[in-house]
Amino acid sequence: MPSELPARVHLVEVGPRDGLQNESEHIPTDRKIAFIQMLCAAGLPTVEATSFVHPKAIPQLADSGDVMANLGDTGAAEIMALVPNAKGLERAIAAGLKRIAVFTAASDAFTRKNINMSVAESLDTFAPVVQQAIAAGMSVRGYVSTAFVCPYAGEIDKRVVRDVCVKLLQMGCDEIAVSDTIGAAAPRDIHATVGHILESIDVGKVALHLHDTFGTALTNVYAGLELGVARFDASAGGLGGCPYAKGASGNLATEDLVYFLDRMGVETGVSLERVFEASSYIAETLSRPLPSRQWQRLRAACG
Ligand code: HMG
Ligand code: MG
Repeated sequence: MPSELPARVHLVEVGPRDGLQNESEHIPTDRKIAFIQMLCAAGLPTVEATSFVHPKAIPQLADSGDVMANLGDTGAAEIMALVPNAKGLERAIAAGLKRIAVFTAASDAFTRKNINMSVAESLDTFAPVVQQAIAAGMSVRGYVSTAFVCPYAGEIDKRVVRDVCVKLLQMGCDEIAVSDTIGAAAPRDIHATVGHILESIDVGKVALHLHDTFGTALTNVYAGLELGVARFDASAGGLGGCPYAKGASGNLATEDLVYFLDRMGVETGVSLERVFEASSYIAETLSRPLPSRQWQRLRAACG
């Protein structure tokens, strides 16, 4: 295990996608765009803006083409979107995306519910998609959901997770988001599973995508930092969840992660106050408070 924590980490903001996909209330496209713009202005280096999945699967993000067409200049921020298959890639290319993310899991039961494929079928589907994306000048992230616990299949074997990660890298993904879909992991799981993955994969290619259902996400970030992981996903205000994973609640909140990393002396380049402004804007849109501890603290301080 490395003796020092990474000096700087790369944060991936997933609020506009993982956060909003879970909201049933209609959110106007222009408010999504303003939210994404505010997150980019907060210094988040990568923002997952939307997804090109079947509109019936995630009705909230059915306007992904319009979001991208009207997003405009996002400065230094890189914009990414989820793509489940060839049809999704076609739509992402038409929308001008430069980075996409394909997504599978370490459990067939979850993958079937989520994208109507087994894990093996999803990998067969992604191989040509990743190849075509790269040929079109895009870069590709690969998500591995249910990397620790699956809501349908239970405990997950770390060797299965590693095999899926290796296959995604072999087909051309440049980063693997090891995902705790239902937020059930604790640091021991991170050490065991991510430690095992790192025996085969360069740490620079590994990101942690943590949900915070059981309140363990920040301790899991710390466990990841101890292993040298320097890429973390988070969602503004702690929005989020996956409609295909029963019991999955919000993602690790961006504000809480930024506060924690600032306090630990790990650089992010992200402004906590500006993320709070973006979250407050979307909280007003949703007419409800957000779960992030830092959001609630700053909100109370605003009177
Ligand atoms: P399917 O029904 O098996 O698709 O759905 P199909 O290939 O059989 O096609 C059926 C019809 O859908 C066809 O139309 C296709 O053209 C159309 P028809 O010929 O009948 O008129 N179609 C599409 N339309 C628009 N965009 C597309 C598309 N693909 C096919 N991309 C499918 C399979 C994958 C499409 C569907 O199950 C789906 O969209 N699933 C997405 C589910 C999802 O978005 N889940 C949430 C994101 S994952 C997540 O949150 C986890 C993560 O955060 C990490 C973690 O926390 O673990 C990433
Ligand atoms: Mg997620």
